[in-house]
Amino acid sequence: TVLFGVIGDPIRHSKSPIMLNRAFKEKGINCAYAAFHVAPNQLEQAIAGVRGLGFRGLNVTIPHKIEVMALLDELSEGAKAAGAVNTIVNENGRLVGYNTDGIGYVRSLKEEIEPSLTGKTIIVLGAGGAARGIIWALAQENPAAIIIANRTESKASELAASFSLAGKVTSIPWSDLQEACKQADVVINTTSVGMSPNIEKVPLDPSWLRIGSVASDLIYNPLKTEFLKQAELQGCRIHGGLGMFIYQGAYAFEYWTGQPAPVEEMRAVVMESLS
Ligand code: ATR
Repeated sequence: TVLFGVIGDPIRHSKSPIMLNRAFKEKGINCAYAAFHVAPNQLEQAIAGVRGLGFRGLNVTIPHKIEVMALLDELSEGAKAAGAVNTIVNENGRLVGYNTDGIGYVRSLKEEIEPSLTGKTIIVLGAGGAARGIIWALAQENPAAIIIANRTESKASELAASFSLAGKVTSIPWSDLQEACKQADVVINTTSVGMSPNIEKVPLDPSWLRIGSVASDLIYNPLKTEFLKQAELQGCRIHGGLGMFIYQGAYAFEYWTGQPAPVEEMRAVVMESLS
């Protein structure tokens, strides 16, 4: 049996084991995937354990995505850009770190709502770790512009400046957001505003959004946030955060096995577990 796992703190509510085990079963691969509770002071030993036990792969979740980088042998370009690792591949003893969150998000966006981002103007609300994770992946799609707006403006400008992508990533003050929305093709909420239990909150006034534009939310609890509900009433096309989770797992599966992930079965088993 080829071994896989996910480490985090907390980890009890992770849907990764049911999703990945379903994927292995679907493909008839003899693999097992388990969740491991790892406190921050145990991270180094946990990674040594991956080497010692010969795990083929590991997912890494909060709070270890940044600290784990120093314990690996190699980092992908995407992991370096995101400044975080969520997927480790054990290549005959060499641990290689990837970040599939950002590319998973973009694949979800393209598969589910907007097949091409080329030439599009994208607004990113928020400037935390989640925003950093998706911006590099969005930039790979050759959009016209990626514009960051954040409650704390300095964090938006610092984040924009950290991407050396020839002026493609910029920031604006929150006060310019209403005007900027008139030109936007895609508006993405990466803030925690609207997340359970504060489900009545919205990150910006949905009446600012352009009819036909895409409103996207990284939040998947609830599956349809108040932001998306109001955006839909406003005439926007909407995209929720569950697909990001599914596709970050799909990429991990593909890196580990070299086979295409059974995405629809993975989605179905996660949806089942949520209801
Ligand atoms: P994550 O890793 O999920 O991105 P984070 O790094 O703590 O978490 O970032 C949270 C983001 O949500 C930040 O952009 C934060 O804005 P500030 O930088 O101004 O703190 C944003 N955020 C959180 N609560 C918010 C609120 N009530 N209104 C607006 N933005 C909020």
